[in-house]
Amino acid sequence: MNKPKILVARSVFPETIARLEAHFEVESNQDDQSWSKAQLIQKLQGKQGAFTTGSERIDAEVLAACPELKICANMAVGYNNFDVDAMTARGVLATNAPDVLTETTADFGFALLMATARRITESEHFLRAGKWQKWSYDMFAGSDIHGATLGIIGMGRIGQGIARRGAHGFGMKVIYHNRSRLDAQLEAECKAGYATKEELLKTADHVMLVVPYSAASHHTIGAAELALMKPTATLVNIARGGIVDDAALAAALRDKRIAAAGLDVFEGEPNVHPALLGVPNVVLTPHIASATIPTRRAMAELAADNLVGFLVDGKPVTPLNPAVLGGK
Ligand code: GLV
Repeated sequence: MNKPKILVARSVFPETIARLEAHFEVESNQDDQSWSKAQLIQKLQGKQGAFTTGSERIDAEVLAACPELKICANMAVGYNNFDVDAMTARGVLATNAPDVLTETTADFGFALLMATARRITESEHFLRAGKWQKWSYDMFAGSDIHGATLGIIGMGRIGQGIARRGAHGFGMKVIYHNRSRLDAQLEAECKAGYATKEELLKTADHVMLVVPYSAASHHTIGAAELALMKPTATLVNIARGGIVDDAALAAALRDKRIAAAGLDVFEGEPNVHPALLGVPNVVLTPHIASATIPTRRAMAELAADNLVGFLVDGKPVTPLNPAVLGGK
């Protein structure tokens, strides 16, 4: 029997390719070429499956041009690169990679919070530039993490991981805002209290964004929200570009309307708003919150599990649009 054909759209672990080759005829991209949409469509011709990352946009145009496609397995928990409604309409299964990155990403959220509040990169740049001549009482004085109020917007698995670290590890008061309130047991475990978005922005010393990107969450933080925050507050975005209005944030940082920001994700990344590059009080990292080798391996394995599970056994592990399975 002919093996199903799949496309692996980005470079991944050689072991993942080897595993996929046991089940599929695989076209891979181990040189990690950046493909245009037209090239992606061309590569997907005749493929039943695609191993994607957050960088490949799978929309109605791609789907219409690739009628043999049956599944796109994202090696990411976020899936705003998928038009899930269009995929469902075409009977194409979408899967993501949840859970396996939760703790690693929560660790990173905390790392970025600490680097931001304690001005770690700003002070390192100062030192590397040879500007450190003497000690002074307020040199790079930042704000405390322990005992401060942490406001988390988006209280899914990663938000809960950050809440636990803050409340149990650093004695923080944790408040959160989410579309739906957690049940009482989870709130108690996370030691987190529910707040409206406005209350949270007004009272938090540190605001952490962990909300998935959608049209509804576009610019969750813009000029109006930044104006509600304390002038001493920090803002951390490990969610997605577009959750924050980066131009408004750069202006608020420049004018010291908030103290500092830590950003792992950007509108239009890998491009970064030039105004953000020009302000000192921001820590910038290139979308690496889940980047440890064991976690990236687990994410790749889960994407592969979904391809094998669906195309070979008919049972994907983490389907996003299970309605599609009824018809297959
Ligand atoms: C990373 O941003 C992910 O969604 O996994």
